[in-house]
Amino acid sequence: MHLELARISHAYDDLDVLSGIDLAVGDGEVVAIVGPSGCGKSTLLQIAGGLLRPSAGSVRQAGAVPPGCLNPLTFVFQDFALLPWRTVAGNVGLVLDSLDARERDARIADALRQTQLWAFRDALPRQLSGGMRQRVGIARALAVKPAVLLMDEPLSALDAQTRELLMDEFAQLFASEALSVLYVTHTLSEAVRLADRVVVLSRRPGCIREIVAIGVPRLERRAGMVDLGAIEQRLWHLIRDEVVAADRELVDEH
Ligand SMILES: Nc1ncnc2c1ncn2[C@@H]1O[C@H](COP(=O)(O)OP(=O)(O)OP(=O)(O)O)[C@@H](O)[C@H]1O
Ligand SMILES: [Mg+2]
Repeated sequence: MHLELARISHAYDDLDVLSGIDLAVGDGEVVAIVGPSGCGKSTLLQIAGGLLRPSAGSVRQAGAVPPGCLNPLTFVFQDFALLPWRTVAGNVGLVLDSLDARERDARIADALRQTQLWAFRDALPRQLSGGMRQRVGIARALAVKPAVLLMDEPLSALDAQTRELLMDEFAQLFASEALSVLYVTHTLSEAVRLADRVVVLSRRPGCIREIVAIGVPRLERRAGMVDLGAIEQRLWHLIRDEVVAADRELVDEH
């Protein structure tokens, strides 16, 4: 499915947060959004997913959704958002209420196998590592057979090693499911590893400073296979300029 954001601007009361964002996510494309803290990344994701109505501009969805899709635009959050009293299978089943029991169980089993969690189906979230908890978050998202995944810093709560492992799993998943993905992150190495294009937002009110195409097929980017350092450096310079400028504005105000 194709997602198109046109001339999106947003203000919370008199706080201008986003300004004139034009952005499309193509069918099967992975687009990362990076930018200084507070520039409106999460706001933009909520607008893209229809959770928040923008002050101006429009969001358009076009194209086919996968067979059996229950929710075309599906979120994955940083804090996993699991119910602590529900088992792994129970947490995945939460989003499948509209299905009959047999179909629901089959979907749960598929999603748990895809995320290597089948053996843990009866465990509670507190019995799992952080990485496994986020896998439950992913399983729950996959179970609805989404067309577009909207991910807000999905790896930020995890330690560096777990993050590396899940990054590889995400890369495989995005390819195997032909998902379109909008992926917000602070971590530039995630953006250059996973995305086809990286959108750099300016400081608040966020507008598009630059869109950087990575130019190497996603599955050829496993750690060490290609050096993405130069692209990461370029992204960092763009963001650093924005952070420095924002700091100057703060100093000037005082
Ligand atoms: N519901 C809200 N009501 C009022 N202001 C908000 C609301 N949500 C966010 N903001 C403000 O809007 C600005 C942008 O917030 P947003 O969460 O979109 O930024 P972000 O780029 O995701 O930041 P971070 O990188 O820290 O996650 C911030 O100044 C924030 O304080
Ligand atoms: Mg955010």
